[in-house]
Amino acid sequence: MLLKTLSFSTLAVLFSLITIGGYVSASGVGLTCPDWPLCPYGLLPHADFIIEYFHRSVAATTAVLVIATMAFALKSKAAPTGMKVASIIAGGAVIGQITLGARVIVERLDALLVTVHLGLGILLFSMVLITVLNAHRLEKDTKAIRAKAQ
Ligand code: HEM
Repeated sequence: MLLKTLSFSTLAVLFSLITIGGYVSASGVGLTCPDWPLCPYGLLPHADFIIEYFHRSVAATTAVLVIATMAFALKSKAAPTGMKVASIIAGGAVIGQITLGARVIVERLDALLVTVHLGLGILLFSMVLITVLNAHRLEKDTKAIRAKAQ
């Protein structure tokens, strides 16, 4: 089922992104790419800011995946309301997170902004997880209904 695969892929990429974010913070390389939205060499990566470049690239990929998951969840007639609501909150959170990421750079890693960035990342992860669990149950229920009908 597409929704199950897509939402699970989104969760896996998001998990990697949060882990990379932790590394960016802990290793103190958050301002190695001081510009926004692109790094000093535009779209080209460079050894001087490769970790921060990677964090931003994976963030862009995550945003596309979260929005695509939301679109498919909203389009599905069988998806429960809780799943649709969770995917909408995830869509809002990912846009908020990208905007906040820009503020984190512009405000030179302001402690409060970085803390909110972490909190919003956890909220985003929770919403995508709820979407995955619902997609998993939806597939199980659909299979059970099909088996009964045969
Ligand atoms: C879906 C998008 C994003 C998620 C889920 C995410 C998540 C995270 C997480 C969990 C951290 C670690 C925070 C900590 O340990 O306190 C982090 C750090 C960071 N993120 Fe993101 N991030 C996202 C997008 C972005 C974007 C677009 C930027 C823009 C440049 C950005 C810039 C940063 C920076 C600079 C840090 C390091 C902060 C520091 O040095 O303390 N993030 N991110």
